[in-house]
Amino acid sequence: MPFKKKKRKEKSLSYELDMNLIPKHIAIIMDGNGRWAKERNLPRTMGHRAGIETIREIVKECSRLGVKYLTLYAFSTENWKRPTDEVNALMKLLVEYLKNEFDELHSNNVVINSIGDISRLPLICQKELENAYARTNTNSGLVLNLALNYGGRDDITHAFKKMYKDLKFGNLMENDICEDTISKYLYTAGIPDPDIIIRPSGEQRLSNFLLWQCAYSEFWVSNIKWPEFKKEHLHQAISDYQNRDRRFGGI
Ligand code: IPE
Ligand code: IPE
Ligand code: MG
Repeated sequence: MPFKKKKRKEKSLSYELDMNLIPKHIAIIMDGNGRWAKERNLPRTMGHRAGIETIREIVKECSRLGVKYLTLYAFSTENWKRPTDEVNALMKLLVEYLKNEFDELHSNNVVINSIGDISRLPLICQKELENAYARTNTNSGLVLNLALNYGGRDDITHAFKKMYKDLKFGNLMENDICEDTISKYLYTAGIPDPDIIIRPSGEQRLSNFLLWQCAYSEFWVSNIKWPEFKKEHLHQAISDYQNRDRRFGGI
């Protein structure tokens, strides 16, 4: 079933969205799964599973609204510190998500992409991801960008190493290095910086997400935990974003 066509203005609860001002790139730190589960005396992995339902709803809604890029922070370079069982469950859920959702995502023209060093993920995850990129890379709808084994510092470190090689072999000249060049060496090359970063669950920190890219992103935090985050919360975030005055250092 195709997602519904967009109207110029939309009302959702009390949030009226200006369809001409939909953010081009929304980035979300999907947080609070564990606490959501704990409140219900459930194992943490049940929280992650419930979080997948939210991913389904938010991807669908972003696509319908005409958002061009949606970056979801799914696993950070620091999340390896978690118990092995939890890490394994998260990897398993990733494979399950890609397998179960692929047809619907593909039929809705979604491009599947990832940022981060996926070479550390289990082979089955890498295989499923490669398959998803290859089969959706000619789609022209929403780019679903999964941040996997992603860290902002690792992103910059990785870029430095690549840049060093290019300098060494004469493919890059010192004088050509500017901010845009650096952006092109990051995992997010070719993707505009996020307009808005959403963090549910009440934490007010970046946790090593998109450090270079968020220089002028608008922040939107909420106490809602990710499994309870609904499209109405997304609308609220977009509506607030549309009422912000982005000055980019000007007046
Ligand atoms: C976010 O939920 C999911 C991942 C980091 C993979 P958490 O697992 O961090 O949930 P809390 O913060 O413990 O509630
Ligand atoms: C950030 O959440 C990483 C992801 C959502 C994947 P964390 O739960 O890992 O962050 P901290 O530990 O609260 O900073
Ligand atoms: Mg957390």
